[in-house]
Amino acid sequence: MKVLVIGKGGREHALVHAVSRSGRVKKIYAAPGNPGMAELAECVNIADSDVKGLTAFAKEQEIDLTIVGPEATLSLGIVDAFQAEGLKIFGPTKDAAQVESSKDFAKKIMAKYGIPTASYQTFDNKADAIGYVEHQGVPIVIKEDGLKAGKGVTVAYELKEALDAIEIAFSIPGNRVVIEECLEGFEFSLICFVCDDLVLPMEVAQDHKAAYDGDKGPNTGGMGVYSPVKKITPDIIEETMNAVMIPMAKAMVKEGHPFTGFLYGGLMLTKHGVKTIEFNARFGDPEAEVILPRLKTDFCDVIENIMNHSKTELEWDDRVTLGVVMASEGYPASSTKGAVIENLENVNSMVFHMGTAEKEGSLVTDGGRVLCVCAAADTLEEAYEKAYADVHRIHCDKLFYRNDIGKKDM
Ligand code: AMP
Ligand code: GLY
Repeated sequence: MKVLVIGKGGREHALVHAVSRSGRVKKIYAAPGNPGMAELAECVNIADSDVKGLTAFAKEQEIDLTIVGPEATLSLGIVDAFQAEGLKIFGPTKDAAQVESSKDFAKKIMAKYGIPTASYQTFDNKADAIGYVEHQGVPIVIKEDGLKAGKGVTVAYELKEALDAIEIAFSIPGNRVVIEECLEGFEFSLICFVCDDLVLPMEVAQDHKAAYDGDKGPNTGGMGVYSPVKKITPDIIEETMNAVMIPMAKAMVKEGHPFTGFLYGGLMLTKHGVKTIEFNARFGDPEAEVILPRLKTDFCDVIENIMNHSKTELEWDDRVTLGVVMASEGYPASSTKGAVIENLENVNSMVFHMGTAEKEGSLVTDGGRVLCVCAAADTLEEAYEKAYADVHRIHCDKLFYRNDIGKKDM
């Protein structure tokens, strides 16, 4: 098989890595890819937003299977474009990708089908939003509608924070805001292979969304992750499948938006059971970096089978994988580029490149989140020690990271 992976981050590096372990794959392309992926795939210089260019490339090269990483590419209708050309692609159509691109769309379906989630209201004007927040009080969650790479969300514990978030959201013309009940509990991610109403769960991971230790600071795309998660027992996973993931896949079919691809459940284990924080239309990042290396079953087989409406028994490595994200100073508000990264050759862990580039023969930072350093071990504690030992081996004076990934579950 010839496989094309679309994207340039850590998630896509993990997808390429999983594809490279498939016995059936003879050639992998990544578009546009990154220096980490270049060791496993041929990187082709086509932007992940260039739907036309990607379609033409896949046709020309007779790609057998394309896997899409980023939500933005899905929202541009890459799957629709590929399907129109008869090309096989694993991902949701533009219409089905609304499960992530529009919080309002997802919330309406959840409400209609009784899928547990935080209560909410959507606002298109500032005065009403302010009135609602003043009436509800804190804690409360303010979300900008649309794709925000995990950054358009404020969990406000003070009224001022909530009002500031509303102010910022409505400073962008045409913006809409979803205001939600704040869920309290233990957060986890459950990602499933989905084709219409067929839903095949992967192992659970826990992401760490806040920028700094102790879950302080602004929300990010994710600063560290581990899998599996002891606290999320098989019973809880079954509850999540039966109350959230399967009903959502079925609802998408019934509502005329059948979903194919990775359906990501962002979930909270609360005192009143599992509740949905959000759905994403693609794999998680950094979740992919710790879940996929644990998958022992041939990744391409699983995808091909589910697209043919048949399930595969998934086999997992029992070890714990823990990943620490190294991000550029200033992330998520801003980020620097071009700082030299050294000593990666002396690292034992898997290092997934999230935002790197090559410049004059050196590896340099090239975005907000830069590297995800992932170690596997028999226990979470050991995986923590191994991953951080390697984080400390990597030299770059413009990166920061959290020191407490996995600590809450130890
Ligand atoms: P989202 O982009 O919806 O995943 O939100 C980003 C992060 O904000 C989530 O991973 C949670 O940590 C937090 N969050 C979002 N919505 C809620 C909520 N209703 N209650 C508590 N935390 C939330
Ligand atoms: N790590 C969270 C996400 O991919 O949305």
